[in-house]
Amino acid sequence: MAHSHTPHDCCVRFAVVVTSHAATLATGRSLPLTRTGLAPAGTRQLGLAHPKLIVAPHLMLHWPEINGENARSLRLLQKAFDIGLARNIGVSNYTAPMMREAQSIVEAPLVTNQVEFHPLIDQSRLLDAAEETKIALSSYCSVARGEVFKHPVFAEIGARYGKTAAQTVLRWILQKGVSMNTMSTKPENIRANFEILDFALSPHDMKRIDAMNATNYRILKAGMLPWVPDWDR
Ligand SMILES: NC(=O)c1ccc[n+]([C@@H]2O[C@H](COP(=O)([O-])OP(=O)(O)OC[C@H]3O[C@@H](n4cnc5c(N)ncnc54)[C@H](OP(=O)(O)O)[C@@H]3O)[C@@H](O)[C@H]2O)c1
Repeated sequence: MAHSHTPHDCCVRFAVVVTSHAATLATGRSLPLTRTGLAPAGTRQLGLAHPKLIVAPHLMLHWPEINGENARSLRLLQKAFDIGLARNIGVSNYTAPMMREAQSIVEAPLVTNQVEFHPLIDQSRLLDAAEETKIALSSYCSVARGEVFKHPVFAEIGARYGKTAAQTVLRWILQKGVSMNTMSTKPENIRANFEILDFALSPHDMKRIDAMNATNYRILKAGMLPWVPDWDR
């Protein structure tokens, strides 16, 4: 699920996103995979051929290269776009300098950099890079896999709007100008996570939530897996 929000536009979109590790893309193995993965018959097999579901072929590089050399993968991403294998292309887990490099290499618009984004982490450098490069951020780990619920401030703020802690956090993400992704195994939570378009957090409450980034809690820590980069500091 992805919610996108700008001051002028608020909408809910569904998309099937194919993600690829940069190393896989760099070997060229991802291109035929993408061709089959996005074919209409494939989406029917997945049970996604609902009349109201717009299936857009998005291809996103899942992680930067382990050695930090992203140019080759980025050129292949551009190629996937040029030959029509992907209607939209993007990256994920790119740092601010990587976003600037990507913008200088890829001519097609990079529609997103999907990153860990929630109130417990300071991602202001990425927000600045997004503004500068016009590569919009999208979030993962939007409720920090439940960690946000340990902080009563979200429920306390949300109660004044008749919303839960989760809805408050997800709404804060949208108001930061970030397209939001979350997931749930529970129908009631999935439903609740859509009900965030009918209220707006005040500037004062946004600032209180911004201040929670002092917690400095990150799930995907640098070096945790070989491909997790040295994050912006
Ligand atoms: N690009 C990347 O490298 C990357 C990395 C990690 C994740 N992702 C993607 O990001 C998406 C979500 O991230 P995530 O699952 O890691 O973290 P998340 O969205 O922060 O956390 C998901 C957890 O939050 C709970 N939750 C969701 N809505 C809730 C609600 N309204 N009330 C209470 N609990 C709620 C869910 O539990 P219940 O099931 O009990 O509701 C679920 O266990 C996934 O689609 C994932 O594929 C991308």
